[in-house]
Amino acid sequence: MKGVILAGGLATRLYPLTFATNKHLLPVYDKPMIYYPIQTLVKAGITEILVITSGPHAGHFISVLKNGKEFGVKHLEYAYQENPKGGIADALALSEDFADGQPITVILGDNTTDADITKPVKNFKKGAIIFLKKVPDPKRFGVPKFDPKDHKKIIEIIEKPKNPPSNFAVTGLYIYDNQVFDFIKKCHPDFAGRNELEITEVNNFYLKKKQLQWAELDGYWLDAGTFDTLFLANLYWAKKNGSPDLKRISLTL
Ligand code: DAU
Repeated sequence: MKGVILAGGLATRLYPLTFATNKHLLPVYDKPMIYYPIQTLVKAGITEILVITSGPHAGHFISVLKNGKEFGVKHLEYAYQENPKGGIADALALSEDFADGQPITVILGDNTTDADITKPVKNFKKGAIIFLKKVPDPKRFGVPKFDPKDHKKIIEIIEKPKNPPSNFAVTGLYIYDNQVFDFIKKCHPDFAGRNELEITEVNNFYLKKKQLQWAELDGYWLDAGTFDTLFLANLYWAKKNGSPDLKRISLTL
């Protein structure tokens, strides 16, 4: 299985932090943010990786990641998304040649997790798998609506719903077969009113074909795309890595 990390966008939510560099190169404790999705993929046995980026600071990735050898990556490729606000599905479309007809594991560059996705990656056959996580603020995410008669069956996924139908977020980890590229071509920029090609519309195409499976992500997960979640991600990894200096402030974590 090959892996794709989506690290484009302008990250205007994090201005002024992202005036001078790309969001995915900001620090999360002792590493640039993008190290975490790379580690998640490598831990799952994925060592051929495409990083898709965009915007004015795209060149910074080369000085940070180089050829990926120090992370255990055997083959690292880069692609450039021309419209940094084209959307996640627009960025993903650039991985079609890299995927070369094979399934891909996709992870958003601002998602940090310590979950192990080795099993779903190894056992993947067909269709798509999404990973869900219970969150206190589902309005910020893609949110699954479950069948009232069958609480395990997703009937729709809604992007940033005003009235969330469940308290699960669709995390930024996905496994897709090659149909994903046909579905992206059918996406509408007005799907969620953001003028972007949305990954949630892609997931709904799989759902309509009854080819969408889901699993609950086992472990810590945060998307570090806001000031608060970036701060929390820093705290989580500082604590997990045993930072002695956390004791200097009184915090209950
Ligand atoms: O983190 C999970 C959430 O990510 C999902 O629950 C949502 O369904 C999904 O739409 C996405 O929501 P966000 O609003 O958080 O997406 P955002 O625009 O912040 O983009 C997330 C990552 O995708 C970002 O770190 C870089 C990449 N990206 C984004 C855009 C808009 C690109 O590579 N190109 C793009 O054009």
